[in-house]
Amino acid sequence: MAKMQRMGVSIEEDLLEAFDRVIEHQGYENRSEAIRDLIRRKLDHERLSDPDTKGMAAVLIVYDHHLPNVGRKLTKLQHSQLLETVCSMHVHMDEHYCLEVIILKGKLSDIAKTGHEIISTKGVKLGKVNLVSGQR
Ligand code: NI
Repeated sequence: MAKMQRMGVSIEEDLLEAFDRVIEHQGYENRSEAIRDLIRRKLDHERLSDPDTKGMAAVLIVYDHHLPNVGRKLTKLQHSQLLETVCSMHVHMDEHYCLEVIILKGKLSDIAKTGHEIISTKGVKLGKVNLVSGQR
């Protein structure tokens, strides 16, 4: 475990009360872990602004498997991006729709582009690209 340092922070009472309410609702056991998570999120956000940073993406899509060739197009796209595709998971949601989560790894600019190509495939009804930087 990394060496810990203590810090003191001055903060308005009402701001701290509002923060405490939110983190209690989210299940945090103490402020320290909630503040560490805020700092990690801020650092991750900063890293994501550099397109050359390595990272990962979870691409979530929903599509109608009755539409012609959607599944085949998605598979073809992932085969053409093999260096970036780590794995994928397919769930049959109901009689029409499939949900797929595709994990990509690589340079952020590349995996963001691939993720958006997947989402913009004709027949994909809903899609999201969630990026995280490779450093913690
Ligand atoms: Ni399916």
